[in-house]
Amino acid sequence: MLKKLFIKTYGCQMNVYDSGRMADVLAPLGYRRVEGPEDADMVILNTCHIREKASEKVFSELGLLRAHKSRKRREGSDMIIAVAGCVAQAEGPEILARAPHVDIVVGPQTYHRLPDLIARVTRAGGVVDTDFPVEEKFDRLPKARPAQSVSAYLTVQEGCDRSCTFCVVPYTRGAEMSRPLADLIAEAQRLVAGGAREITLLGQNVNAYHGRNPAGAKRPVASLADLIARLSEIDGLERLRYTTSHPRDMTEDLIAAHRDLAKLMPHLHLPVQSGSDRVLKAMNRGHKASDYLRLVACLRKARLGIALSSDFIVGFPGETEADFRATLELAREVGFAQAYSFKYSPRPGTPAAERDDQVPEPVKSERLARLQERLNADQLAFNRASVGREMDVLFERKGRVDGQLVGRSPAMQAVHARAPKGLLGRLARVRVSQAGPNSVTGEILPVAASAVGGGA
Ligand code: SAH
Ligand code: F3S
Repeated sequence: MLKKLFIKTYGCQMNVYDSGRMADVLAPLGYRRVEGPEDADMVILNTCHIREKASEKVFSELGLLRAHKSRKRREGSDMIIAVAGCVAQAEGPEILARAPHVDIVVGPQTYHRLPDLIARVTRAGGVVDTDFPVEEKFDRLPKARPAQSVSAYLTVQEGCDRSCTFCVVPYTRGAEMSRPLADLIAEAQRLVAGGAREITLLGQNVNAYHGRNPAGAKRPVASLADLIARLSEIDGLERLRYTTSHPRDMTEDLIAAHRDLAKLMPHLHLPVQSGSDRVLKAMNRGHKASDYLRLVACLRKARLGIALSSDFIVGFPGETEADFRATLELAREVGFAQAYSFKYSPRPGTPAAERDDQVPEPVKSERLARLQERLNADQLAFNRASVGREMDVLFERKGRVDGQLVGRSPAMQAVHARAPKGLLGRLARVRVSQAGPNSVTGEILPVAASAVGGGA
């Protein structure tokens, strides 16, 4: 019998990937994804625990779901409610205590056990499974189904062995685990056969990737640069990206890959968090502001015009006005094409949350506003600088305006253009004519796109 499955995804791209794989696991039980929770037989909230608001949103969503579940029960059917992802991992049993209508709590490493958990629920009610058998996960999950989209995600590495003092990821996703090279090449080939033209390699600390090489290879483990080089050879795959990287793991071979591999897009998300050496040290990031600037210079030398994006935290415990100014200064020096910035949010169990020099909320808000003003101005400047230029755009979806398609530039800008529907899922040459804060607009050029997706 066909059953309706609604999955709501919070947080990072890795959760988007995981939601897809959960749907794959449940497909053999007759579950098909639907767009909303109202009539669903099963609802999964795939949660994020990285900041306070992220987990609060989950509890408010659970409140809404309770009404749907009661209605379905009155009508003689039921709704299985599962909480998955990092809130599930971090809060486990507390979720069942606070929201007793939840049936399943499942951590990121045990999605392959969902069918079994569903069977247990229908027998006995509420179960929690937040074990850490990481290696099992990818072996037990069914092979990824062909891509639905021209731009696909591929998780190559999970977990993190660093210990940034603000971050909950090492607790929710566990220790680093890299998938073997051969598995990833096979999965990428399946994605491309299913229509993907772009693949983004995912990992919490993706450039720490060190996956097992096939027997007989020169070295026992492959680096991320090795993996990217191998994936570059796949015909029909036009573009490669990877996220999220740690500055300390930007190895020479990876920087060289940006010079040598045309399919590797000229864009890099490289979180810096702060521009103050004192704060970077307290965060345990393992580098200084000057190291970051040197790295940026190397990357720009390797690939002229490479676009950089970043993450920032303001109001880390003990951050002074002078520390914050150093962050503004670093942002000014780099000139990021795009960036995310957050107020520090104490995560239970992390070292920074224990500190008694927390920054008052109004100070955090004021600093965030000042930083965002700087970052927004830089983003607009980056977009304006592309006016008049030609670039290859991979069209991914229809725009809001009729006759318009939206795609991505090599530098990850959203690009709008009037274009025939036939260009969906394909690369086309575009000349940019206008720039806004969050996207650019251009005209399709009557020239065939170059063989690869690069050519900024
Ligand atoms: N490597 C990770 C990064 C962690 S989460 C990844 O897979 O993306 C993304 C960003 O959230 C971080 O770079 C950091 O800027 C922000 N962040 C993490 N913990 C935070 C906290 N406790 N408070 C505020 N922002 C935080
Ligand atoms: Fe978190 Fe730092 Fe790892 S931000 S994911 S502990 S690199």
